[in-house]
Amino acid sequence: MENNNLIQLENLIKIYKIGETQVRALDGLSYTIKEGDLVAIMGPSGSGKSTLMNIIGCLDKPTEGKYLLDGQEVSTLDKNKLARIRNKKIGFVFQTFNLLSRTTALENTELPLLYSDISAKKAKELALHSLSEVGLKGRELHRTNQLSGGEQQRVAIARSLVNNPSLLLADEPTGNLDSKTGKEIMVLFKNLNEEKNITIILVTHDQNVAQIAHRRIHLLDGKIVKEEHV
Ligand SMILES: Nc1ncnc2c1ncn2[C@@H]1O[C@H](COP(=O)(O)OP(=O)(O)OP(=O)(O)O)[C@@H](O)[C@H]1O
Ligand SMILES: [Mg+2]
Repeated sequence: MENNNLIQLENLIKIYKIGETQVRALDGLSYTIKEGDLVAIMGPSGSGKSTLMNIIGCLDKPTEGKYLLDGQEVSTLDKNKLARIRNKKIGFVFQTFNLLSRTTALENTELPLLYSDISAKKAKELALHSLSEVGLKGRELHRTNQLSGGEQQRVAIARSLVNNPSLLLADEPTGNLDSKTGKEIMVLFKNLNEEKNITIILVTHDQNVAQIAHRRIHLLDGKIVKEEHV
């Protein structure tokens, strides 16, 4: 596949205002991520990692600066347009899995398709396929509380893949897992990146997790202070 720029960030500034207080969570951040990249974002607590992920994921907008996703300026779009882009292009994985409790792996995975025009039959088919891709064949009808932590994170990854996104964003995806299970999840990410050419951006505190990335960027006070290339 050609080496297109998937994400272009130019001089992003994000200011949160709470009463009289202003927090400059991003402070003039510029960066480019190409299609098929696997990038780790590191940095101490409060350095702006999640803020950056929320903007890249079209969950929030920068206060200033430009964000081009697939060549399209998205920093100025309204909420509905952002939501549409999100549903079409982006999958999310979180530290706490964010699954519905007392609900099966299959139902959790189908969720993003609920509000699309895809038929129930097709949605089930896609969800089953997605679950098999993350190694959960045979666990489809288990409820969330009947799955291990690693399996729950796999369900969350299956759910994030069911829309066939070109971009996967994971904020501390192994933060609640033991190191062996965390490693298995990283192998899964690496395979998805290599086999399906999904661009992956993950936030992590863990050097071992960051090892799998092609590039690592370190944030401090809303700025990139260091970049490593593999
Ligand atoms: N919704 C918000 N309203 C106000 N301030 C916020 C908000 N979200 C984040 N901040 C502030 O912005 C800064 C960056 O926060 P952010 O959550 O991006 O950090 P982080 O690098 O993800 O930290 P952690 O490793 O603890 O998750 C922090 O000082 C935080 O207090
Ligand atoms: Mg965070």
